[in-house]
Amino acid sequence: MWSFITDFFTYETTKSVVVKSWTIGIINRMVQLLIITYFIGWVFLHEKAYQVCDTAIESSVMTKVKGFGVYNNRVMDVADYVTPTQGASVFCIITKLITTENQVQGYCPESEPKYSCTHNKNCTKYLNKHGGYGIPTGKCVRFNDTMNTCQIRGWCPAEIDYIKTEPMREVENFTIFIKNSIRFPMFNYTKGNFLPTINKNYISSCNFDKVKHTYCPIFRVGDVIQYAQQNFSVLSQKGGVIGIKIGWLCDLDRAEDQCRPSYSFTRLDAMSQNNNVSPGYNFRFAKYYKMDNGTDYRTLVKAYAIRFDVLVNGNARKFNMIPTLINMVAAFTSVGVGTVLCDIILLNFLKGAEQYKAKKFEEVSDTEIDSHTNCLYRSQLSIRHDEKQSTDSGSFSIGHFG
Ligand SMILES: *[C@@H]1O[C@H](CO)[C@@H](O)[C@H](O)[C@H]1NC(C)=O
Repeated sequence: MWSFITDFFTYETTKSVVVKSWTIGIINRMVQLLIITYFIGWVFLHEKAYQVCDTAIESSVMTKVKGFGVYNNRVMDVADYVTPTQGASVFCIITKLITTENQVQGYCPESEPKYSCTHNKNCTKYLNKHGGYGIPTGKCVRFNDTMNTCQIRGWCPAEIDYIKTEPMREVENFTIFIKNSIRFPMFNYTKGNFLPTINKNYISSCNFDKVKHTYCPIFRVGDVIQYAQQNFSVLSQKGGVIGIKIGWLCDLDRAEDQCRPSYSFTRLDAMSQNNNVSPGYNFRFAKYYKMDNGTDYRTLVKAYAIRFDVLVNGNARKFNMIPTLINMVAAFTSVGVGTVLCDIILLNFLKGAEQYKAKKFEEVSDTEIDSHTNCLYRSQLSIRHDEKQSTDSGSFSIGHFG
């Protein structure tokens, strides 16, 4: 029992072999230097491993569009061309409209040439199919002087959506005002995109640009589309989705005013650019009215629009003891990795490798154990050798200098 206790309260330390060789010595220090440089330069200074990072950014976005346009001899204001109207982070600016007025429930011919027919039996194939503007009845009726088309039951007259219309040019000059507040919950840090340098006079006159007014929260639609590398006339003709990205990269160890938004712009529906199946972006909505006799009629609108998505992302970093300690320990431990490489070189490729091997690995055979049984100590072997002991910390020295 007592011997177990004395065995337990012992300290073991590793015996080292000191190799005095220029080659391996220089390699060893070079490897260590590399590892230290990597940790200080990349891990600590570049990747800032001494900080904790909060990526769970909380954000609110409010938008407001301004400008007047003229379309079909009518002046269009915000309520006419922006939808939805709440001023959220996703909104559409309508650039082109196809309106079908005074639609009522009833029977009427399809409007598209692909539904043209000469007999009722041309139309039976559309029964129980959808794709047109209403439920097919299977009859062939007169559409105009030159064409008969299949009949439908639904909102009549059917929309004619192949008529050519020009988009509203003035959209290019409309402005988008963006109010963005963010918070990093880990540090309870709040900030907005109106920097302290922005005052009322500035905001009423500035327009964002990438060189001079990088923090102005008012964006001209034409500029946004240009920064997203798109062509306004193509985009307003077919519709599309543009992303306005607000990035917040905040190093909270630095001064307060270093935490600033950066704006960037891209086209989000890149697929519809090089795909002819469903190019652009459009949607339909209707306005409903009631006649005196109580029947409903409506105005159907097919709108081509540029949709803007305001996307906010970012992270905040701040010094913290725990990642600092963990990374420092990792750095110190990694310095030891150099020995693995040096051992491989030393024991395999260096001149006199066999000699080093002999010094590093001591072989003990059964017969030796038998003759030294009195030296057997806690199942480990400590074998006395006649080697010359160097003075430093009891380690072996193998001279190779000179
Ligand atoms: C946009 O504004 C500029 C300058 O105010 C003006 O010259 C241009 O004609 C406007 N464009 C449209 C399409 O109204």
